[in-house]
Amino acid sequence: MVKVLFVCLGNICRSPMAEGLFQSMILERNFISKFSCDSAGTSAYHLGELPDNRMRQTAQKHQINLTHRARQLTPQDFASFDYILAMDKSNFDDIITLQQRVKMADQKALSCEVMLMRAFDKLKTDEEVPDPYFGKVDGFEEVYQILQRCNQSLLDFLVQQHY
Ligand code: 4NP
Repeated sequence: MVKVLFVCLGNICRSPMAEGLFQSMILERNFISKFSCDSAGTSAYHLGELPDNRMRQTAQKHQINLTHRARQLTPQDFASFDYILAMDKSNFDDIITLQQRVKMADQKALSCEVMLMRAFDKLKTDEEVPDPYFGKVDGFEEVYQILQRCNQSLLDFLVQQHY
């Protein structure tokens, strides 16, 4: 079983959308025994909350129901997951900083690979999945489109690497 964790700042917009999309692709491609996924935030701003209404509405338009409850990234995640996908560079830096600290105490954390989500974007125009929280409504559809492209390539990459 390959385990993937999607991480953003608040865990109420980008990463739960990435998780919902990845989960639907796993189901579509009959991969439930091969992959599992979850999401988390680097911050504790929205602990326990459902995803932002605007992100949930966008997901619904694409037949995806987001039911994740926000949680913060923990040291244990580096041992529990094989891959952590960061939505932007600031998330990436925060994840790596925590991983460096955890590595000293837990060698299992070493094998977790941290990557930028947009490294998988075939139409990449930027290194980051833009944070839609303070932006315009159409920012949410843009995030969906970016994550859709990235997740397709990510899943292809993981199948190639592991199966
Ligand atoms: P996310 O978006 O990181 O994609 O979940 C944000 C959600 C909340 C905040 C920032 C970004 N906030 O500052 O509360």
